[in-house]
Amino acid sequence: MTCRVLVPDNLNDAGLAKLRSVDGIEVIAPGKMNRAETLAAIPEAHALIIRSGTQVDAELLEKADNLRFVVRAGVGVDNIDLDACTERAVVVMNTPDANTISTAEHALALLMALARHIPQADASMRAGKWDRKTFMGTQLMGKTLGIVGFGRVGRAVAERAQCLGMVEVAFDPFVPEDVARHLGLSLVPRLEDLLNEADIISLHATVTDKTRGMINRDAIAQMKDGVLIVNAARGSLINSADLAEGLKSGKVAGAALDVYDVEPPAADNPLLGLPNVVYTPHLGASTYEAQEIVGVQAAEAIINALVKDRFDNVRNRDVFDRLSSKNT
Ligand code: MLT
Repeated sequence: MTCRVLVPDNLNDAGLAKLRSVDGIEVIAPGKMNRAETLAAIPEAHALIIRSGTQVDAELLEKADNLRFVVRAGVGVDNIDLDACTERAVVVMNTPDANTISTAEHALALLMALARHIPQADASMRAGKWDRKTFMGTQLMGKTLGIVGFGRVGRAVAERAQCLGMVEVAFDPFVPEDVARHLGLSLVPRLEDLLNEADIISLHATVTDKTRGMINRDAIAQMKDGVLIVNAARGSLINSADLAEGLKSGKVAGAALDVYDVEPPAADNPLLGLPNVVYTPHLGASTYEAQEIVGVQAAEAIINALVKDRFDNVRNRDVFDRLSSKNT
């Protein structure tokens, strides 16, 4: 039987080539598909590879009569309704390692751009000015970096920031103390401890019911005056209105944002257009290197599932109970 793999988001050529090299796999990847095109193509698909642009929700799954696997080429599965996939016996996998270094590097690039006002200084020179007074920056050595979420990316940021001579604290209720100690930093037991201590806060948590909106008015009130905030994880970790208020009051001296609660952000997003914010459009994983690895790993996940019956990095493990009850 031919397995049709639908790829509605842009996937690296190396990944597509890997899929096409396997007999019995047909790849449907005409380039970035819009929602209507994806919905029209989904009934024929046995497998789906997506990035963050495609929502795998009830509407799509309703039409996905043949779908067996969804692979998220990347980390975040917040655009996939995992319960609905489980209900329909669709296995969801991701490629959690592939983006780590590129995302960590982007967080550090944002941090430096923020600390030294690089985008604003660049814009000023492009406007014909030579202004050396406005853009007084912050030296990073000796500053305390608070890392919220100490998974793969948080740890990669920590290792790299140590080379800059930063002092580090991390908060992550799911990580054992010795993991942080091994990397030479302390894991604080409460988020408040990190908020009190950090000069710069970098977010690397996943979005859950507990973390959604965790950077809100109360959290900001507990931060140091003049704190800097970097978010290259997920926009919904932040309450946008509360952070905008903090930035306007000066309590938060600046923020660097790669991610937004809705992407692309609506024109009335209160975080847009602020002079003390550095913006990028969700570029954390956008390097040639990361996209190649992501593409290849996503293809391998499909091939392993189809050919070897091997499932790595499954995000809805209870699907296997569903599958066995379906087969008995
Ligand atoms: C991820 O979750 O892998 C990154 O945010 C990049 C992306 O969404 O493609």
